[in-house]
Amino acid sequence: MIIETERLTKFYGEKVGCKDISISVNKGEIFGFLGPNGAGKSTFIKMLVGLIFPTSGKAYVLGEPLGNVQARKKIGYLPETFRYQDWMTGVDLLSFHASLYKLDKLKTSSMIEEVLSLVKLKGHEKYRIGTYSKGMQQRIGLACALLADPDLLFLDEPTSALDPIGRKEVRNIILELKNRGKSVLLNSHLLSEVEMICDSAAIIKKGSIAAFGKMDDMLENKITLEIRAENIHDELLAKLRTLDPDMGHRNGKMTLTVKDNADIPHIASLIIENGGKLYELTPRKESLENAFISLVKGGEAQ
Ligand SMILES: Nc1ncnc2c1ncn2[C@@H]1O[C@H](COP(=O)(O)OP(=O)(O)OP(=O)(O)O)[C@@H](O)[C@H]1O
Ligand SMILES: [Mg+2]
Repeated sequence: MIIETERLTKFYGEKVGCKDISISVNKGEIFGFLGPNGAGKSTFIKMLVGLIFPTSGKAYVLGEPLGNVQARKKIGYLPETFRYQDWMTGVDLLSFHASLYKLDKLKTSSMIEEVLSLVKLKGHEKYRIGTYSKGMQQRIGLACALLADPDLLFLDEPTSALDPIGRKEVRNIILELKNRGKSVLLNSHLLSEVEMICDSAAIIKKGSIAAFGKMDDMLENKITLEIRAENIHDELLAKLRTLDPDMGHRNGKMTLTVKDNADIPHIASLIIENGGKLYELTPRKESLENAFISLVKGGEAQ
């Protein structure tokens, strides 16, 4: 486990930041921390990178308890809202960050080259940041977070201010980081984004975890089958109802909800073997977005 938290909790005075968060993140995976505005996403990241102290609970980052200096050297952090000095050039900013990381001169120039090519800003480094597009500013921020060659990256809403092309560029960089063996925890309220790149995710609602697991399991939680068939006699209907007691049946059309992919061929065989004529069987997986919306329904942003 690269991150493990046990009932991690933060109160700001009386106000809940996040409460009893217990999650684990495997090494090498991209983990999505999803939630609406005010849910507690940034609070959670800030505790893990050591910017604020938890009120209670425990957390281990890279196998070490929070605050361990060796572990902190191996993490990179891209804050949610950052703004760099407009007059600085890209290379000025990276050199400044390299000095904060105390990288030696030789390492500094090779790392600057490396991160610039990773975030696709080579050729732009001599221009002032004030002339960069939002997408480029986000990518120079990512470059700063990558300078010390961290094993684990914390990215707080890395794509939310960007247009679709900018988002895709940042997504591709995150996937490239995963290919290079890095682990990533990213905050987002853009669910489609998380669906596209994350291996696992947690949904946070009003400071507490509402769902947590592998993305495949979360997406395949529910599969709705839309079936069009003829010759659906009572005996066959009864057999189908054992799989989903709430199934719908009207004018030769049926809607069944199942949990397991293996149920799909089973249902097709059941219909055919019992004399039904199967014309259509369309599985629709409930997207994480639907799961998210139903989970946070009524839990308006704070
Ligand atoms: N410094 C603070 N003092 C008091 N309350 C705070 C502080 N920081 C955050 N909060 C409160 O804690 C809760 C969680 O905030 P947080 O910023 O962690 O949410 P978030 O999920 O990152 O939201 P967003 O999507 O808007 O970035 C909110 O109710 C917020 O008002
Ligand atoms: Mg936030």
